[in-house]
Amino acid sequence: MTKQFSGKVALVTGGASGLGRVSALALARAGAQVLVADVAESEGEATVQMITSTGGAALFTQADMTQSREVQAMVQAAVKAFGRLDFALNNAGIDGVRARTANYPEEVWHQVINLNLTGVFLCLKYELPILVEQGGGVIVNMSSVAGVTGFPGHAAYTASKHGVIGLTKTAALDYAQAGIRVNAICPAYTRTPMLSRMLEQKPELETKLISRVPLRRLGTAEEIAEAVIYLFSEAAAFITGHALVMDGGIVAE
Ligand SMILES: NC(=O)c1ccc[n+]([C@@H]2O[C@H](COP(=O)([O-])OP(=O)(O)OC[C@H]3O[C@@H](n4cnc5c(N)ncnc54)[C@H](O)[C@@H]3O)[C@@H](O)[C@H]2O)c1
Repeated sequence: MTKQFSGKVALVTGGASGLGRVSALALARAGAQVLVADVAESEGEATVQMITSTGGAALFTQADMTQSREVQAMVQAAVKAFGRLDFALNNAGIDGVRARTANYPEEVWHQVINLNLTGVFLCLKYELPILVEQGGGVIVNMSSVAGVTGFPGHAAYTASKHGVIGLTKTAALDYAQAGIRVNAICPAYTRTPMLSRMLEQKPELETKLISRVPLRRLGTAEEIAEAVIYLFSEAAAFITGHALVMDGGIVAE
């Protein structure tokens, strides 16, 4: 049986963990060949193993999204391995530290902006020319509910995720006539290793976070992956420049 994404090639950054891993698995189940990219080699290879052991096609490439040459090599690796590129999920990100704005360490500010914002820009810089050459493609950038609201104690994260939405809208407009769609997803608190690390430091935070969500629960990585699949699919063919908030109702309040 032909699957929805048979013959398609997808690149997933931050594919060694959390939302990236679960999205890579979902893309592979939908028939795409997947290039899993991450700094974390053994966990990235583990994602590939999960895909290939169930009959899917995937390869790992180690790349640091803050390094222009590595991002360029990663995009070339996808094309070299699978012959084309149709979808890119620019998802790698870090949360930084928790500190009020004036106390936010400059060094961490630059780390967070370099990965979460400049990293997404670098991905777009090298992915878009390939998609233009092929006559189309779809990109999804991982923002956050912190891309549309303030998040006390997280100046760099919030600024970076707001930046991702601006970048998404601009790239969508720059490339709409080239047949390329660019959207963002803005999840709220979703159970992944990133959130677990935060909760390990402050276990009482879980109840507090849940109480902020009108649906009174955390999100799941599978729910975010469903949205990734939808945005890549033809069902979303008229959607570009959009920031899809998945937050259990937080911003509605
Ligand atoms: N989990 C949430 O609640 C949540 C909510 C909103 C947005 N997000 C965003 O979703 C994305 C994925 O988050 P997650 O929760 O799956 O986190 P995670 O920590 O589980 O996964 C992040 C991945 O990014 C990789 N990574 C880190 N630095 C990198 C670099 N320089 N180059 C390449 N890869 C690098 C890590 O190795 C890891 O595999 C992030 O951009 C995050 O900001 C997460």
